[in-house]
Amino acid sequence: MNARTLGKNGFNIGEIGLGCWQLGGSEFGPLDEDTAHEILSTAKESGTTFFDTANVYGSGRSETLIGEFLKEHGEGITVASKTGREVYPDGYSRENLRTSTLESIARLGMQRLDLLQLHCVPHSILLDGAIFDWLRELKGEGLIKEFGASVESADEGLTCLQHRDLLSLQVIFNPFRQKLLDELLPRAEELEVGIIARLPLASGLLSGKFTADTTFGEADHRNFNRDGACFNVGETFAGIPFEKGVELADHLRSLVPEGMTMAQMSQRWILDFPAVSVIIPGASSPAQAFENATVTKTPSLSSDLHQALRDFYREEVHQHIRGAY
Ligand SMILES: NC(=O)c1ccc[n+]([C@@H]2O[C@H](COP(=O)([O-])OP(=O)(O)OC[C@H]3O[C@@H](n4cnc5c(N)ncnc54)[C@H](OP(=O)(O)O)[C@@H]3O)[C@@H](O)[C@H]2O)c1
Repeated sequence: MNARTLGKNGFNIGEIGLGCWQLGGSEFGPLDEDTAHEILSTAKESGTTFFDTANVYGSGRSETLIGEFLKEHGEGITVASKTGREVYPDGYSRENLRTSTLESIARLGMQRLDLLQLHCVPHSILLDGAIFDWLRELKGEGLIKEFGASVESADEGLTCLQHRDLLSLQVIFNPFRQKLLDELLPRAEELEVGIIARLPLASGLLSGKFTADTTFGEADHRNFNRDGACFNVGETFAGIPFEKGVELADHLRSLVPEGMTMAQMSQRWILDFPAVSVIIPGASSPAQAFENATVTKTPSLSSDLHQALRDFYREEVHQHIRGAY
C-alpha cells in the first residue's frame, strides 16, 4: 500500500486506514468478535497499518478487540484512539483525561498510545486551551507519543491548528463534504498537520448501495441519529437527509469511471488531495476492508471528473448538509 506521513515528522502509515467504530458492536449494530478479528486481519493483510478507534466505541470493546489483535499482529501497526466523549459536554479535567488515557492503554495493551485525539470536544473547551496543556503533560509523562484532535467544524479545526505541536486533525471529508477545501485543508497542509479523513463513504451512502427503502437496525445510528437525535447529525450520512443522500448518490452513478466502484471513486477522490494523510473507512465485513484497501491501487481521477464532482457538490449537495460544518 502507498504510504504517507501523518503530520510533521510523524508516523509513516499506509494511506488507507481502518475505522474501528464498527468493532464496538454498538452504533452500527451488533458485530461478533470473530468477524471483528477477521476485519482487522484482512485490513492488515491488505496493507493497512493505521487503526482509528475511541475509548467510547462499544464502551471500550473496540479498543479491547484491537488490543487482542495487537498481541500477535501488532508489528507495524499505528493505533489512534480518542478521548473526551465520555465526559461531554462539561466534564473536562486533567484528572479525567489522564484516567481515560490509562484505561485506553490498558485495553489496547500498549505501553503508551501512539496518537491520542480529542474526540469532538466542545469548541469552548478548545478555545480555552487548557486541554492541550493536559495533553502535553501526558506526552511528557510518556503516556502518549503524539496528540491530535477530531473536530466537527472548520472553525474548530482552525482553533486546533493554533497549537503548533498538534500532529493531526480528524475531519469529515468526502465528495459530499467539500467545504474544508476552502481554508482548513490548505492551512493544515501549510503547517504540516496530518489530515485524517473520516466518513469517507458518508456512512455507506457513497458506496451507492442504499435505496430509499433500505432500513437499518434499531441500534444503528443510521436509524436513531439520522436527524441528529443523539449526537451531531454530521456523523450520520455526513449530515444529509437519508432519502436525499440516496438520490444524490444515484446521480453520481454515471460519473463512476469504468473498472471502479462508487466506493472506490469516492475514496480515490479524497486521496487525490495531498493534504490528506490517511482515510479511515469503517468496515462491517472483511470484504469491505479488503475492497477499501484496494483504493491505493486505483489511478488518480481525471481533472474533468474532479471538476464534475466539484460542480456537483456546489450545485446539488452543500445546501442539504445539516449540523456543525
Ligand atoms: N467523531 C469522530 O471522531 C468520529 C465520528 C465518526 C466516525 N469516526 C471514525 O471514522 C471511521 C469511518 O467513519 P464511519 O465508519 O462512520 O463511516 P464510513 O467509513 O463513511 O462508512 C462506513 C460504512 O460504509 C459501508 N461500507 C464500508 N466499506 C464499503 C464498501 N467497500 N462497499 C460498500 N459499503 C461499504 C459499511 O456500511 P454497512 O455497515 O451498512 O455495510 C460501513 O459500516 C469510523 O469507523 C471511526 O473510526 C470518528
